[in-house]
Amino acid sequence: MEKRIAVLAGDGIGSEVIKQAIKVLDAVSHRFKHTFTYDFALVGAAAIDETGDPLPEETIEACRLADAVLFGAIGDPKYDDDPKAKVRPEQGLLKLRKSLGLYANIRPVQLFESLIDRSPLREDRISGTDLVVYRELTGGIYFGNKGRSEDGKSAFDHCDYTVEEITRIATMAFEAAGRRRKKLTLVDKANVLETSRLWRETVQKLAEKYPEIEVEYLFVDNAAMQVIQRPNQFDVILTENMFGDIISDETSVITGSIGLLPSASVGEQTSLFEPIHGSYPQAAGKDIANPVATILSVAMLLESLEMFDEAKRVRSTVNKVIEKGLVTPDLNPEDFISCSKVGDIIALLIESDLDDDTSFENLFEGKLPLI
Ligand code: IPM
Ligand code: MG
Repeated sequence: MEKRIAVLAGDGIGSEVIKQAIKVLDAVSHRFKHTFTYDFALVGAAAIDETGDPLPEETIEACRLADAVLFGAIGDPKYDDDPKAKVRPEQGLLKLRKSLGLYANIRPVQLFESLIDRSPLREDRISGTDLVVYRELTGGIYFGNKGRSEDGKSAFDHCDYTVEEITRIATMAFEAAGRRRKKLTLVDKANVLETSRLWRETVQKLAEKYPEIEVEYLFVDNAAMQVIQRPNQFDVILTENMFGDIISDETSVITGSIGLLPSASVGEQTSLFEPIHGSYPQAAGKDIANPVATILSVAMLLESLEMFDEAKRVRSTVNKVIEKGLVTPDLNPEDFISCSKVGDIIALLIESDLDDDTSFENLFEGKLPLI
């Protein structure tokens, strides 16, 4: 198959992890005889530096023309420290989500058995965790009216939701629960917020159509506690934009590193795939970032193109490499390899037929000119 992929590396470690993801895509294309064409485009602080705009029109166009978008990371401390900045890198990502109608952000959290001791949480608490967060992505407080009073002494961010906005992502989450363990948890703050009451009402109505799904309702403060105390009770977590932003960072802790978690943003137009971590500016240029989240985002991207065997090959290779302890410093500060080495190894293993363990061991005894 021939596919066009828009590649938006963005800021900080974005370009380093994206490089590894491209190696993986190239390896997949060789092995499975596909042609991937990459369309590199600017976003974030990198785009501001070059064009003054965090999301230039050409970038939106490249994404619209693509079969999928691969995204690195966004954000630069020079803007974080300046609350008066008029233009911010993050605006690029937010506008892109809105322009492509990416209303659902899907963040799966799966444990790697071999990394269970890297988690700050006790093994008996987390074992068996396999959940996915469906976060609404183009509404709520992120996109409501915002502003300051004339004297600058008060500010507001409105949170708005419509039944339609809630229904479309909730339907997606119910369908996902149907394919999984048939449990859906709505996370809201219905004891305080009117928008949350609308979420609850809409989800309750929709639940009638899915009698086989067990539906549970949790207030966000309680949910924040539960995902840490007993994450394995969850299957599909459905929530609005801001709560989803917070809960999904929190769930990433369970696995031991935020550098492991991929995401897909889907909706009306081209889907976008990105690691859930940010631009990690302290690590930029040091070749130490964990590329696994981006490589697993590639697996999700391949699935969206119905390349299921290809995605499986990526996932099983990642598992194998992690099992062998070939990881970046976030996962093992005492014994690690670089970001680009992880990318090289995964790409090589995807392409080669070194499937049995003996060949794999040989690879690391220097029989192949790799490390
Ligand atoms: C995320 C990020 C973004 C968000 C930022 C970079 C705007 O934290 O994708 O979770 O808040 O949605
Ligand atoms: Mg976030």
